Order: sequence, then structure tokens, then C-alpha cells
Amino acid sequence: MKDVPQIADNFGRRFPYLRLSITDACNFRCSYCLPDGYKKTSSENYLSLEEIFRLVAAFVGLGAWKIRLTGGEPTVRPDFIEIAHGISKIPGIQKLAFTTNGYRLPERAKDYFDAGLNAINISIDSLRPRKFEQITGHNRLGEILEGMQECFRSGFKTVKINTVLLKGMNDKEIDDFIDFVADKPISVRFIELMRTGNNGNYFAQHHLPGTYVTERLLQLGWSLKPREEGAGPAQEFKNSNSMGTIGLIAPYSEDFCKTCNRLRVSARGNLHLCLFGEGGYSLRQLLQSDDQQEELQNKILFLMNFKKSTHFLHEGNTGITPHLASIGG
Ligand code: 5AD
Ligand code: SF4
Repeated sequence: MKDVPQIADNFGRRFPYLRLSITDACNFRCSYCLPDGYKKTSSENYLSLEEIFRLVAAFVGLGAWKIRLTGGEPTVRPDFIEIAHGISKIPGIQKLAFTTNGYRLPERAKDYFDAGLNAINISIDSLRPRKFEQITGHNRLGEILEGMQECFRSGFKTVKINTVLLKGMNDKEIDDFIDFVADKPISVRFIELMRTGNNGNYFAQHHLPGTYVTERLLQLGWSLKPREEGAGPAQEFKNSNSMGTIGLIAPYSEDFCKTCNRLRVSARGNLHLCLFGEGGYSLRQLLQSDDQQEELQNKILFLMNFKKSTHFLHEGNTGITPHLASIGG
């Protein structure tokens, strides 16, 4: 077999994991992301099915084996199932994941699984219905929790929950989340609130360092799991009394970027080397025909020269990302 080059950067990091946004649109109004709801700003010429398949095939050819579909909210795309199904058939894909707000999950979970998706991350910022509604603009906590159960019944082996840690909103719920996972094979990931171009005041009011969670976990006898080979920047904690695990994603912590293993492509085909910090490099003109695969792969490999060792969030630099719905978190 031909020895294919693998995507790597100048700092020795490899990138088996592609996060692909397929739309900027979202039907929720999370207070830290789209407090006024999604507003169409430019023409929604999102990547077509064919463009998506070519893009993914090129990345897989360069060693990527895990793809996550993100948004906005990826499931608002009418062809979401077709996208997932098509990607799952590309040889070399081992893990096809998606991140969702859980809208209509009870009736859709089985279709998602049948389409070839095998890992789901559901965003749940509060286990209290009123608070959940206050944060997301939707009184749908019950439905989403039901949807989570439906995921297990449908066959999903990996179910994770994303919870953005918010001072004054859900910081009193750490113990509730710990109790919640005790009898479920799921992982709750607390995510440190990130400052984006649009949420400066909100960030100042609600940001809490991730150590707030880890200190509580250690106090309760939880311990840090050894990092698995190929794992990303999340820290995972376990406890012998709990079926589930609790993780922390702390982008402001030192060394976070050293374990970076992912690249991002936006819904219009721009390669983003980091969640923060640059406008992206368009790959779209090389997604127009199957004959362009080699050229596309060469361009991706070349662009890796521009990947920096770390983000500059510490200096208050949020890049140009106005909110994470534009690049999928
Ligand atoms: N900081 C941290 N997490 C965020 N998300 C969206 N915006 C932010 C932010 N500013 C999360 C969502 C979702 C994931 C894709 O990213 O809650 O779980
Ligand atoms: Fe939508 Fe996700 Fe942003 Fe919430 S965080 S508004 S679910 S894109």
C-alpha cells in the first residue's frame, strides 16, 4: 500500500479528529452563544452533500478516523440523515459522532443511530427545568432527558453530556450532575465558558475556572483517569461508586493545547486550525470534483504549517469567532 502522509503540525501533534460544522443555524438561544437566537447574516451556501463527502474522504485519506458533525445545531439541516449515512460509508471512518442540543431526540434517536452515527454529545446545562429554560430559551429538559434514554435503547454506546459551567447559573449543580451519572454509563463534560467576540459582558459575569469542578471532585474522592492514547484535551475523573464519569474541558488551563488532536471545517468549507484565532482557509474550490482529491490533500498538509502551538485566549484575544455557533465549539 502507498504510504500516505498523515496530518501533523510543526509541534509534533497529529490530527485524527475532524469537527465538521454543517450549518450555522440553531433553533436554541443559549445565553452564552446566541442569546437573541440565530439570525441569518449572509447567504446560507453551506457545503452540499457531495462537497461534504469529498472533504471527509480527503481527511480520512490523511489519517483522520473520527468525525464529529457540529453546527450551529447540525440536526436542523434537512439532509442531516443523508449526510451522516454517506459519511458512515466512507472506508476508514471508525467513529462518527455529533453534538446536538437534543431537540426532538426521543423520536429521532433511532434514525440517527440507523444512519451510522455511533456517538452523541448532548448539551444539557442544567438539570433543573426552569433553569434549563432560562439558559437555552426552551422548556425542553424533560424531552431531552427522555431522548438520552432513547439513545441507549437505540444502540448508542457512547453518550456524553456537555455542560457549560456558569457562575450563578449552574455552579450549585455539580453534586446533582455527579448523582445523575452514578447509575448511568455516561460522561458529563463540564466546559469552561469561553469568551467569544459577542459575549464579553456575559463572560465577565459567569466565567468560573474549571478548578471549581475538579476541587469538588477530588474532595469527594474522585480521581483523574490516566489519559488514553489519542485522547483530546478533556480531563476525565472516575469514582468506583459511579457508573458514569465526569470530565472537564478547560481551555484556559495551561497545557490545554498540547493535546490538541482536532481540526475544524466550517459549514462553508473553511479550514480552521484553531477554534480561536483566525478566519479559516477556504477549501471549497477543491471540493468541486473527485479529481481534485490529491490537490485538496496537499493543500490541507501545507496549511498545517500555519497551525500555532496555542491559542491566545489568555491575553483576551478571542480571534474573530463572534459566537461558537459559527464554528461548532
Ligand atoms: N463557551 C463554552 N462552551 C460553549 N458552547 C457554545 N458556546 C460556548 C462558549 N462560549 C458549547 C455548547 C455545546 C458545545 C458545542 O459548545 O454548549 O455543548
Ligand atoms: Fe445553539 Fe449550541 Fe449555541 Fe445553544 S450553544 S445556541 S444549542 S449552537
